[in-house]
Amino acid sequence: MSAPPKTVLDVPAAEAEAIRHAVRNIDPTTLDGGRRLACPDDVEALLDLLSDPRVSGPIYDLPRPINADTVAAWVARCQGERERGETLLLVNRDAEGQVSGYSKISVWPERSAAELAGAIRADRQSAGQGGAGAWRTIDWMFETLGVRLICLTAAMDNIRSARLIEAMGFVRMGDRDAVAEDGTVRPSLYWEMSRDAWRGPGA
Ligand SMILES: CC(C)(COP(=O)(O)OP(=O)(O)OC[C@H]1O[C@@H](n2cnc3c(N)ncnc32)[C@H](O)[C@@H]1OP(=O)(O)O)[C@@H](O)C(=O)NCCC(=O)NCCS
Repeated sequence: MSAPPKTVLDVPAAEAEAIRHAVRNIDPTTLDGGRRLACPDDVEALLDLLSDPRVSGPIYDLPRPINADTVAAWVARCQGERERGETLLLVNRDAEGQVSGYSKISVWPERSAAELAGAIRADRQSAGQGGAGAWRTIDWMFETLGVRLICLTAAMDNIRSARLIEAMGFVRMGDRDAVAEDGTVRPSLYWEMSRDAWRGPGA
């Protein structure tokens, strides 16, 4: 389950409301042309994607176990949370129309903060695509969603995530126990980035 950042910002009500409004109304194609909000029609493709342990294994914030019912419930829950201005579940489609990845953005408008989780299909991993997508997504979260703080976690042995998070300039702030939906606790590396410190995509 997603958890808000360790740092707590003082956030005016108007700022929180603007973020809530952005989450409810944002057009994901402004992030990139292949992104769109996950809907019930994506459940089968998401199940295919997430059934691969090379994709879902390192991620704590996913339904467990992963099956058609839990993925359908997850998509529906994320849709409801989006209507409250608190979650964006996005799928990426490749040129063939297949789901090639997903991103889940958990938002705490009253904290002007968000967390990003996601994965790309195994055949696309380790070729620079995840890194490029992460830079773009973080930039979009600061600039278009309007949050001032983003936190990220990674499993202790997730070298690729740690490398790309450090390359983006996130500040390591110790560890955190991430709690999965089934109650499993995963010790995790933990980072934060503020909008003021963000240097922009690809900087
Ligand atoms: C994490 C993920 C999004 C990264 O995307 P990616 O396209 O595979 O990674 P990239 O090719 O952009 O590489 C990221 C960094 O890891 C390094 N890397 C790539 N493959 C590697 C490997 N097999 N071993 C060690 N380092 C590797 C890259 O050199 C790069 O580091 P650098 O910027 O210092 O050069 C992707 O691997 C993925 O979806 N993994 C499964 C789910 C997951 O772990 N999600 C993130 C949870 S926090």
